[in-house]
Parts: sequence; C-alpha cells; structure tokens
Amino acid sequence: MHIDSRDPWWRHAVCYQVYVRSFADSDGDGVGDIRGITQRLPYLADLGVDAVWVTPFYPSPQRDHGYDVADYRDVDPLFGTLADVDALLSRAHELDVRVIVDVVPNHTSADHPWFQEALAATPGDPVRDRYVFRDGTGPDGQEPPNNWPSIFGGPAWSRVADGQWYLHLFDPGQPDLNWWNADVGDEFASVLAFWLDRGVDGFRIDVAHGLFKPADLPPREAHHRLPAPMWDQPEVHEVYRRWHKLLEQYDGDRMAVGEAWTASAESMARYIRPDELQQTFNFAWLEADWSADAFRAVVEDTLAAVGLVGASATWVLANHDVVREATRYGGGATGLARARAAALTMMALPGSAYLYQGQELGLEQVEVPAEARQDPSWFRTGEVGRDGCRVPLPWSGTSTPYGFGPGEGQPWLPMPEGWGDLTVEAQSGDPASTLSFFRELLRTRREVTPGLPDAVEVLDAEPDTLALRRGDLVCVVNCGSRPRRLPAEAGAIVLSSGAAPTHGELAPDTAAWFRLA
Ligand code: GLC
Repeated sequence: MHIDSRDPWWRHAVCYQVYVRSFADSDGDGVGDIRGITQRLPYLADLGVDAVWVTPFYPSPQRDHGYDVADYRDVDPLFGTLADVDALLSRAHELDVRVIVDVVPNHTSADHPWFQEALAATPGDPVRDRYVFRDGTGPDGQEPPNNWPSIFGGPAWSRVADGQWYLHLFDPGQPDLNWWNADVGDEFASVLAFWLDRGVDGFRIDVAHGLFKPADLPPREAHHRLPAPMWDQPEVHEVYRRWHKLLEQYDGDRMAVGEAWTASAESMARYIRPDELQQTFNFAWLEADWSADAFRAVVEDTLAAVGLVGASATWVLANHDVVREATRYGGGATGLARARAAALTMMALPGSAYLYQGQELGLEQVEVPAEARQDPSWFRTGEVGRDGCRVPLPWSGTSTPYGFGPGEGQPWLPMPEGWGDLTVEAQSGDPASTLSFFRELLRTRREVTPGLPDAVEVLDAEPDTLALRRGDLVCVVNCGSRPRRLPAEAGAIVLSSGAAPTHGELAPDTAAWFRLA
C-alpha cells in the first residue's frame, strides 16, 4: 500500500512476523520450516500483509532457537535448504509479499568457526580479538572481569579452559562479538550482501542497540536501567551508516528494521536518521498499559521523536519475546476485545505496523508445563520465560497438533487443549472471529489510509477515551469500563473492533474508525 507512489514500500507496510519454528511444519518433525511458510503464503497474502519477517533459520545448535547462528550463509537442515529459501522468496514475490530476514550481529553461536578458532588459540592471539575475551579478577582470576549480568540470568561471563573469560550478554552459547575488530564489520557487510543478492527485501536486526561495548568494560551501576554501559553506544551508528550505503546499492527499496530497546523515543529515533536504518521497532505501545492516557503519550512521543529525524513510525503490540497482548490486557473476553481495539487504533496511525503470528487469531499466552519449557532463560533463572508466546499456530482440526504439521507428530512445544475454536479453519468461516476482523482491518486500511497525511491530531474526548484524527479518518478507543460518548467530530462508522457504536456511544474495550463527511 502506498500513500505516495514515491514512498518506499516499507513506509506504510503491514509486516507479519513468522517465528519459523512455530508457524507451519511441512515434514511432520514437530518443528516449523521454510517449506511450511511457503505453503502458507497464500494465507498471508489473503490476510493482506505487505511483508513477512522470518526469524533466524540459519545453521544453529538452537540454544536460543536460532538466535545463536553458527553459519550466516546457510540454512539449518531442521528448517530446510538454501533452495527452499529461494523458493520462498520467489513465491512471496509472485504474491506481492516482501520478505525480511533476521540478522544477528551482536553475537554468534559458540559453534561458529570463529569462536571455535578463538577457543583453540591462546590468550592474546588475534583470533580471540573477534570476541570479548578478558582475564578475570580476584585471586587467580577466578572472578569475572566485571559485574555485567546476562539478560538470561546469571553473570554475562563464562570461563574457558585456559582461565580467560568471554562475554555473553545472552546465553553462554552466544558469545558477544567485538565490533572494535574490523573483521567483524567486514564479515557482516558480506553476510548482508549474500542475502541481498539472493533477493531478500530487508533485514530485521537483532539486538541492534548492542554490538559496541566500551573497550574498558566499565562496571554496571546498580541504578542503571538502559542505557547501561553495554547498550546504545554511539559507535553503533557508524555500522548502520555503512549498511545504509550497502542497501542503497540494490534496487527495490531494500530496508532494515532495528530491534533497539532504548531508554526514550529520542534515543530510538537516532537509529533512523536519514543515513541509518529505515525503521526501528517502536516498543512503547507494547510496554504501555491498557490506558487512554498511556496510549496518547505513546502516540505523541513517537510522532514527535520520528519527526525530529524525518523518519516514519512503526507500531508493535507483540513479538516472540513478550507475553501475548490479549493476556497482558487481562485475558479472556476482555483481553481479546482490548487486543483487537489496540490493533485497530495502531493501524489508523501513520507508518508501518508489525503483527506477530497468532495475533490475528487472538491467541493468548500459553502456560507451558515446566517439563516442556525450552527458553534458555528458564534454565538460567527458573523464571517462566518466553515459551508461552511461541507455541505453534493452530491451523485446523480439534486436537493437537491442530494441522501445524501432517499426521499426529507432536510439536516442539505442546499445544493446549481447547484450541479447536481458534484454528485458522474454524475462524475463517466465522464473520465475528478475530481472524475475520484482522482480514477486514487490513483490507480497510489499504482502502482508507492511502492519501492520508502523517499528521495526527488528538481530539477532545471523554475520560478514558482517546480520539485521534488523521485527515478525514477519526479513530476512537474506549479504555474505560462504561460506554462513552463519541467526540462531535466522529463521522460515519467505518469499522469497529467490537460492538458497533450505538446512540453516539462507544462500548468499553472497543475502538472504532469513522470517516468525516
Ligand atoms: C533478541 C531476540 C530474542 C533473542 C535475543 C538474543 O532480543 O528477539 O529472541 O533471544 O535477541 O539474540
């Protein structure tokens, strides 16, 4: 969908995140794969998405489900082959769907040949300098070099046989690269070119706010949240300038979207200056409570920040790292109504929207039994972790594996009882289903939003409601607990996330679009 034919495709796109292990399993081994995605592309095209982002499918020991890459230029046999990726790209392009792949530049897998070479070398050898190796502190260097914690729990350092320590901000199986070493930057430029040459339309950059760590590795102080010394360092922006130039050498408005968890909308916007990344995920909405005031602040702060750098916004409610939004918003019928209303509100806004697989089905977070949990953070902290938003998609049927794969083969994470009503098959035939709502929403967005300005006005509205006007589109969301009168400006109803407004009032937990006469 293009507001202006000169706008690049990604500027207003709806991009659907495929978590490859859990989307569709073509061969019945219980793990989703590339062919499974290709087979289901018509479903995504029919849903009305402009692009898919596919999470890592590269060779990997799967310590962090693919975010631990052992070879950046190949496909793990678990997921298929390079030929399968080529087929996915060409089928997607036939259907006018763009494909974004994940790139993981902050760390490699411990199985990556560079890390194996580093382990085999002695302290001080230049091959160790591609990672962050240091001597320990305390007697005999038995204490880690500093106090940095791993995101997955415990210290961010592990000790190797010769007594040195290496940095891993995530799992010990994910050693952090040393971006001060020129080999690292050259290698990733070459990896990006490899995939661009194969025809990918863009990249999602994992931990884009990581990469550079201050060379003296200063301790983290207790009060630090972000930016702690390991995140959001100024040098990282040079990397994105280099990648910007690389992307520009290709046709078709190739792009990159950064996963940068930063402290403020302003620091997020630094990643999308005109010569850096095209987009960065805007996590503010995903972090906000169900509240009209909170949503209003997110909209205003985001648009102000992206305006400072002349970039466009993105809107995100869900991904494979966070509790599903229907659950965050209270679960059950209320949580689902709110999730639909939040999606409708987001989609009225200028910029691009990201959907996470299963969002269109209204899936809730699953309580994965302890013995089935797989998230590396569960093993390091004993906290539940992210498995509950990664349970495979239910496609059809009334019992597990709900058409996720052929036959009865059980999926890598157990699927709950009672998902029969939530399958794509069951929801497709029901005009009141969440899937039908999302289809209608994406279709309406394509029809109504091209030509609308990027400027958004916050209208006067009743308490607990937020009313936004963008050109002749008005969107109102009621986050309160009783019906609220619509603002005078609201025109004819276009689409509602729930009950249609009656007597000039909008029901609680509902959003609606209106068009000015
Ligand atoms: C990102 C990914 C997450 C992964 C981590 C380490 O935050 O989204 O799933 O565990 O990076 O690569």
